[in-house]
Amino acid sequence: MYRSHFIADLYQFSPGTVVTVAGWVHAVRDHGGLLFIELRDRSGRIQCVIDAHQNPVMENMAKMLRDEWVISIHGSLNNRPEGTVNEEVAGGNLEIRVSSLRVLNSSQTPPFPVDDTKGVSETLRLTYRYLDMRSPFLLEALRLRSELTTLIRNEMVAHQFWEIETPLLTRSTPEGARDFLVPSRLERGAFYALPQSPQLFKQLLMVGGIDRYFQVARCFRDEDLRADRQPEFTQVDIEASFLNRDQFLGIIENLFCAIFRKFKNTELSRPFMRLTHAEAMEKYGSDKPDLRFGLPIVDISAIAQNTSFAVFTQTLGSGGTVRGLRFPGGASRSRKEVEDLTLWAQGQGAKGLAWIKAEASGFSSPILKFIPEPLQKEIAEAMGAEHGDLLLFIADTLPQTLKILGLLRSHVARLANLIDPTRMELLWVIDFPLLEWNPDEKRFEAVHHPFTAPHPDDLAILSDTPELARSLAYDLVLNGTEVGGGSIRNHEIELQKRVFDLIGMTEEEAKRRFGFLLEALSFGAPPHGGMAVGLDRLAMILLGRDSIRDVMAFPKTQKGTCLLTAAPAPVDPGQLRDLGLKLS
Ligand code: AMO
Ligand code: AMP
Repeated sequence: MYRSHFIADLYQFSPGTVVTVAGWVHAVRDHGGLLFIELRDRSGRIQCVIDAHQNPVMENMAKMLRDEWVISIHGSLNNRPEGTVNEEVAGGNLEIRVSSLRVLNSSQTPPFPVDDTKGVSETLRLTYRYLDMRSPFLLEALRLRSELTTLIRNEMVAHQFWEIETPLLTRSTPEGARDFLVPSRLERGAFYALPQSPQLFKQLLMVGGIDRYFQVARCFRDEDLRADRQPEFTQVDIEASFLNRDQFLGIIENLFCAIFRKFKNTELSRPFMRLTHAEAMEKYGSDKPDLRFGLPIVDISAIAQNTSFAVFTQTLGSGGTVRGLRFPGGASRSRKEVEDLTLWAQGQGAKGLAWIKAEASGFSSPILKFIPEPLQKEIAEAMGAEHGDLLLFIADTLPQTLKILGLLRSHVARLANLIDPTRMELLWVIDFPLLEWNPDEKRFEAVHHPFTAPHPDDLAILSDTPELARSLAYDLVLNGTEVGGGSIRNHEIELQKRVFDLIGMTEEEAKRRFGFLLEALSFGAPPHGGMAVGLDRLAMILLGRDSIRDVMAFPKTQKGTCLLTAAPAPVDPGQLRDLGLKLS
């Protein structure tokens, strides 16, 4: 027998218990006469003691051990002698008196210490991911992910959802990214696409009467990677029939309450906060606002109109807006720091950044001379300024102003240290616009995806002002990250055709790309809707990590490569020949 228990299981056993444990040598310490082996498995560590006098053969064996060798130890559990107890770690009061030691394998010296990977480059960690994985940092993440997936499965099944797998070799699904293609050998010149999401299949499952579906689904998107984006990621994909939007959101709220109860030990209050897309943009300049801090955007156009500051008045004259936000405590920032802030804003596309310091002694700013005193007060009042604030203003077109202030808001919150990392703020953003103008292609595209239903109250304006129409799409936002998104779908064929038409898809193209869906809709499709939760992002936030790579077993680099296997890689000419492919 290699092992009777995981190491952490021993922590609750009483002295004298005879156990067998197996794992990796974390450290060996020779105290002359007594030899200590610190043994590690995925659950924890324990000190094992060999008495050299009683057991010289075993002592010699133990002296050969090096870090990361694999061993199995049999012995009895003891309380550590007084004065040698380590209160800092679990099991620090225990040790195993070794009665037999087996070496199961040796190991090369690892390229980094597995218990402290903080200073190790990510490149090295990803190249030796299987060693990195021995660190508590990664173990904690993989364990939480496993528990999270299990909890989600249990919750979904309890709500009568069935877990159903959908194909990975499929056709393009329009989630807005580039597809990963897989050439077909049997049908030369034809390609499968890896799914960007199971969107079409889950709708077909609804037509099939499955009624409630979910899947822990791998999705593939060839897009620019960031800290919260991987080319291959996991969604908890969900779809349900015969539920209206609010009923569906209720099911997801239930799920998130269960998740937060287990992993954050908090009871979320329901219903979750909801902002319409328009409100979120107007107040926070973002469709995924971080509500762990306030700092709303304030429209001061009406006051700015009466100043003689040309930047303000000219922008307003050409139909723009002037808005601002507070930087609490920012008045004490140096000239240089304020300049840096301006440069930062310009880096985000701002034309400039106007500012006023509001101090107990009064206002100060290079633009004060253009603003009569009563208006200075009005501005400060409108913005709820307090002594010590730095007031920041952007004058530009409305979308540009909101975009920059939205980014500035998060930047300022970080600078002013306003973000409590332990706080969790969840909200729904609803009533997204249905369409968005793509100036390059000179056509509308779907803001969510083209299967999303228009808002029933906006059907009448679809023909004349489609850009104003809202949809039944919703996003779930957690601390400024979109952790999930979905919508109620078009289950009637005519409405679906209409949306295709609005995004400039000819009937022919619609038939060619989505004919199978349109046909399915004509065979008694029930009203349905759903969403997908980004499992990696959710795990990242629950763990307070900065990157989703830190919650995935085998992530890819920012360039989409796997350092461990060196994928992607060239293939044999023979393989290309079989596929009828030639590299150009
Ligand atoms: P959407 O495209 O919004 O919707 O994706 C749903 C959620 O998946 C996560 N996500 C990602 N996570 C990591 N890396 C990526 N590259 C990545 N892209 C998306 C996000 C996002 O909120 N089929 C629809 C859902 C539906 O309508 O039901 C869809 O895929 O957390
Ligand atoms: P200028 O008149 O260009 O010297 O700018 C005066 C101040 O207004 C500087 O602090 C600029 O950063 C700022 N500023 C310039 N353009 C804008 C703008 N569009 N919005 C806000 N502030 C601006």
